[in-house]
Amino acid sequence: MANFFPRWTNYIPLKLAICAGIAVVGVIAAFAYYATPETQRVGYMPSQPIPYNHELHVQQLGLDCRYCHSFVEHSGHANIPTANTCWNCHQHVKKDSPKLEPLRRAIDETYEGYDGRPIEWVRVHQAPDYAYFNHSAHVNRGISCESCHGDVHEMEEVYHAKSLTMGFCIDCHREPENNLRPLEEVYNLDYDPDEYLEQNRDVATLVNDFIANNDKLSGKKLSSQQKLGHYLKDHWNVAPKESCATCHR
Ligand code: HEC
Ligand code: HEC
Ligand code: HEC
Ligand code: HEC
Ligand code: HEC
Repeated sequence: MANFFPRWTNYIPLKLAICAGIAVVGVIAAFAYYATPETQRVGYMPSQPIPYNHELHVQQLGLDCRYCHSFVEHSGHANIPTANTCWNCHQHVKKDSPKLEPLRRAIDETYEGYDGRPIEWVRVHQAPDYAYFNHSAHVNRGISCESCHGDVHEMEEVYHAKSLTMGFCIDCHREPENNLRPLEEVYNLDYDPDEYLEQNRDVATLVNDFIANNDKLSGKKLSSQQKLGHYLKDHWNVAPKESCATCHR
């Protein structure tokens, strides 16, 4: 029997099958990637039982993050304040505001709707169970809330500002100098490294000497953030780990 087709054509179906297979996997992977929260959660802004405003309480009233998120520097988890924390002020201020009804329901025994149940805040940031995260390990090493949560002090409603994906974590573990700041500036979300070095000339001198005497860094074009960041990294011996077991244990 004559063979009309050259031998290699026998493989065409196989090649087609492989190509189709790869295409299908590609589409599934792309879909999974775009459909997962990693890309969708930036901007996530659930509505809350009370329209609590960070801009008002932090920027205008001058409250420190730790007044309410008091565990953040001592524990792996930050905390949402209990109704008591709000009631310290609001038993005196705007007590009758309709916006504060859920607060009174939780804590004000004289209020007709009182039921004593905690306010049900909706969680905004949430790492998956298989990833280990620790707040105090970051904020006590010169990493500000701002690096991971954005400009919360300017938010009237909290939203998810940064991706907090694995790549996001690892980028900073590789180059923490882009984010390290003096410990007293961790809770100051208006921190500006240029201004800081201008106002702290003694630190600026130490930083400039450190850079000038460092073979790898001297002569490089570095921002104030990077100069100060490199100095702090060396001074405090900061070395964030990149091994899988650091965050998957
Ligand atoms: C007067 C109390 C108070 C102060 C001060 C305060 N917060 Fe909050 N914070 C809250 C409350 C209540 C919530 C939960 C409701 C919400 O998300 O708006 C919250 C939520 C958050 C969340 C989101 C938590 C989640 O669900 O993922 C972040 C991040 C946060 N605050 C950061 C900060 C930072 C940074 C500062 C300082 C600049 C700060 N907060 C100051 C009361 C406070
Ligand atoms: C240090 C005191 C203080 C604390 C603590 C505090 N607040 Fe306030 N809050 C104020 C002041 C002052 C205002 C502004 C009142 C005004 O507009 O005259 C305000 C305004 C508000 C308003 C707007 C009320 C309205 O009718 O416009 C809400 C809602 C609110 N706070 C919720 C909270 C919640 C929830 C907490 C706890 C997580 C909290 N506050 C903790 C002092 C405080
Ligand atoms: C290095 C990144 C990083 C920094 C810095 C950081 N956070 Fe977070 N924050 C996260 C992640 C990730 C989560 C989700 C954690 C989880 O689900 O266990 C989170 C969750 C929270 C929550 C919700 C409660 C919780 O612990 O899950 C609050 C409140 C919060 N952060 C406040 C703060 C405040 C205030 C600061 C600064 C003092 C801060 N964070 C600094 C990454 C960070
Ligand atoms: C902006 C910079 C930055 C980001 C973003 C960041 N880290 Fe870190 N991380 C650090 C620094 C700095 C340290 C402290 C290293 C040291 O002490 O030498 C650290 C330490 C850690 C540690 C070790 C804590 C311990 O118990 O020793 C873990 C775990 C960790 N990070 C997990 C994460 C995860 C998960 C994320 C993402 C959700 C993340 N980090 C995002 C800078 C960052
Ligand atoms: C600095 C912390 C950190 C380190 C180091 C780290 N991971 Fe992750 N990883 C995370 C976080 C956080 C997530 C969850 C990401 C999210 O929610 O978007 C994650 C997610 C994952 C996922 C789920 C898929 C994905 O990308 O979301 C896999 C698989 C994974 N990590 C494997 C690894 C392996 C393998 C290593 C070592 C080479 C490693 N990780 C090192 C923090 C880390």
